[in-house]
Amino acid sequence: MIYLTEYVAVLRLALRFARTLMFGALILLFCPATAFCGSAQADTTLQVLHWWTSASERKAATLLAARLADEGVAWRDVGIPGGAGIGAGKVLKSRVLANDAPEVTQIIGVSIREWADLGFLLELDKVASANKWNASFFPTIQTLIQHRKHVVAAPLGIHRINTLFYNRKLLATLRLNPPETWEELVAVAAKLKAAGIIPLAQSSEPWQVATLFENLILAESGPDYHRELFVKQNAQAVFDKRFTQALERMRQMKGWMSNPVDERPWTDVVRQIAKREAAMVVMGDWAKGELNEWGFATDDEFSCTPMPGTGKYHLYSVDTLSMFTNDYSRVLAQEKLARLIATPAVQTDYNAVKGSVSVRRDADPTRMDSCARASWNAFAQGAALQAPSLVHRMATDESSRDAIIAVIHRYFIDDTVSAAETQKRLAAMFRTFNNNSRK
Ligand code: GAL
Repeated sequence: MIYLTEYVAVLRLALRFARTLMFGALILLFCPATAFCGSAQADTTLQVLHWWTSASERKAATLLAARLADEGVAWRDVGIPGGAGIGAGKVLKSRVLANDAPEVTQIIGVSIREWADLGFLLELDKVASANKWNASFFPTIQTLIQHRKHVVAAPLGIHRINTLFYNRKLLATLRLNPPETWEELVAVAAKLKAAGIIPLAQSSEPWQVATLFENLILAESGPDYHRELFVKQNAQAVFDKRFTQALERMRQMKGWMSNPVDERPWTDVVRQIAKREAAMVVMGDWAKGELNEWGFATDDEFSCTPMPGTGKYHLYSVDTLSMFTNDYSRVLAQEKLARLIATPAVQTDYNAVKGSVSVRRDADPTRMDSCARASWNAFAQGAALQAPSLVHRMATDESSRDAIIAVIHRYFIDDTVSAAETQKRLAAMFRTFNNNSRK
């Protein structure tokens, strides 16, 4: 499927390439003799486009901005609201089309490859080798930040998407243990419901619904099957009994949510847990950063446990920043930021605020809280137990992701849509994706 925006982007790429060549030649010719290079290097403001707009996300961004300021570079913040980057992606595309790309952008997962393919991203190989990124990061992180053997993104932290947050006090009042299996989850939900407590907080925003669903797929079948579906998009795998079961379980869970399930930002959903309005929520661990920032310490009012059935696994999303080359006038500042965010000190401090964990193998888990420690240890076990999140762009390209999410969302909001219909629709979609990618 070729979209107009993509077509226009390719045209722009050709123009940009020609311009870059001319610009590079000019620099080589005149750089040593003129003030031009000096002024380019002195321009040390970086616009940073991202979707961190909640209290803890802003705090994490402010922390990075302060550390960058220590190095003499100003962070001009461009935060676009919308959980999971719904708004930020659109703003980025239109700014690139207007030839006004920000110098730094939160681009994550497969999207990194998409933008790198168009030739827009600065190669960070020098920073990576000087700072031994190869030896420092988990292998999955190294693969994620590279495109055609060049490093084109700098990693910030690893979020765990298969996290069940629960209000400890609500569960304790009813003498309930946090559930570890599906059966235990069903039993806990039934008891909470009988006691008049909403068992599960949930929004009907499409990405939040699909987050719950990919958790159920992982719980039912593990990372291999999750990849078979969302990375390989194997149409046959959609007709598997395990897929039907995940759909049915999601519908069963609807009975544990407030009725109707409103479309609300993730912060509102998480707040329900803090206020004891609901007992549990399935959410990426940025929820922990947010709860902490609101004054709720981990393992006091709330705690977290892996989504029941996924204890060994890590459904991951990695936050990364990529740099747009533009006219190459901010390269030094861009490289400073890239180097800075991967340092052990920034990794420790930033991730403690954000709710994520360090991308570094030499991080110290004893300095992490219980949720972070469990996440970091699970991730450290290696790729076989890791699953790349569909919703957070780790598994597939933007348009396939959006289309899959829409099918799952439709099944969730409309109870007359059957599991079988949903499977047929998705399998047909997977066949089209696979045909297109073979062309
Ligand atoms: C994710 C991102 C997180 C967090 C979350 C909610 O995609 O990785 O950093 O911001 O969205 O918006």
